[in-house]
Amino acid sequence: MSETRPHCLCKDHPAVSAASPAGAGVRFRIATLADAEALASLHHLCSREQPDGFLHLLGRPFLAAYYRILLRNPSTLVVCADSGEDGLVGLVSACLEVGEELEALRRGRYRLLLAALPAILRQPSLIAAVRLRMVSLRPGNAGEGFVVGHGPRLSFWGWSPCYPSAGLSTQLFLEMLRKLKERSVSVVSLEVDRSNRKVELIHRYMGARLVQEFVTKDGRKRLVMEHHL
Ligand SMILES: CC(C)(COP(=O)(O)OP(=O)(O)OC[C@H]1O[C@@H](n2cnc3c(N)ncnc32)[C@H](O)[C@@H]1OP(=O)(O)O)[C@@H](O)C(=O)NCCC(=O)NCCS
Repeated sequence: MSETRPHCLCKDHPAVSAASPAGAGVRFRIATLADAEALASLHHLCSREQPDGFLHLLGRPFLAAYYRILLRNPSTLVVCADSGEDGLVGLVSACLEVGEELEALRRGRYRLLLAALPAILRQPSLIAAVRLRMVSLRPGNAGEGFVVGHGPRLSFWGWSPCYPSAGLSTQLFLEMLRKLKERSVSVVSLEVDRSNRKVELIHRYMGARLVQEFVTKDGRKRLVMEHHL
């Protein structure tokens, strides 16, 4: 592979050395609680490439609290791409049972709110969107209006825009599908915003089927897709 990485101008992600080829030394592994801060930074960075992404608007401290909750939840699995000296460059998060993950987030809602407070104070217009999501976490609401409420679910897939993936982003995603299959998952759902056409097409390219379209409670058109393993 002869491609070299461009110098990263992004202030909050480590610059990558132009000398080493993309992909060299990147290791896929299961993330642990110690990765929460790095996952938050990576998620925040990737979200800039995600039209209509929401969670990152609540700030990096919120994302760190979010990943600490997910990584403590036994039903959640996060697979990351670790480049060594450049840190984490890719992540896929999923849960075996979305109901358990939503319940973990519901139990952690005050920690999440506290972590999101600086972002909310900077941008009070976020309050309405946060309130709608809090309602969707209430017992019995099963994420209604935003996410699929039952069964295995993929929640986020990201690859650093500062680190050319050269096919590694899809390999990481396929690694997650393999890990889910090892855990006896046969179908996994995900949602993609209609505006995120590139990601919709990549999922189709990897074999996902469109099963439903809906409009979120804050007015975004979303697709529900399924990967059959
Ligand atoms: C989603 C994401 C991880 C994909 O990673 P990426 O490095 O940008 O992906 P690439 O451009 O390398 O494309 C991945 C593969 O899809 C293929 N692909 C890209 N655009 C495509 C399109 N429009 N149609 C069909 N295939 C496409 C590429 O050829 C590549 O195939 P390969 O792996 O066999 O080489 C990355 O874009 C990202 O972090 N986006 C922001 C966060 C986000 O929106 N996440 C999804 C919602 S949770």
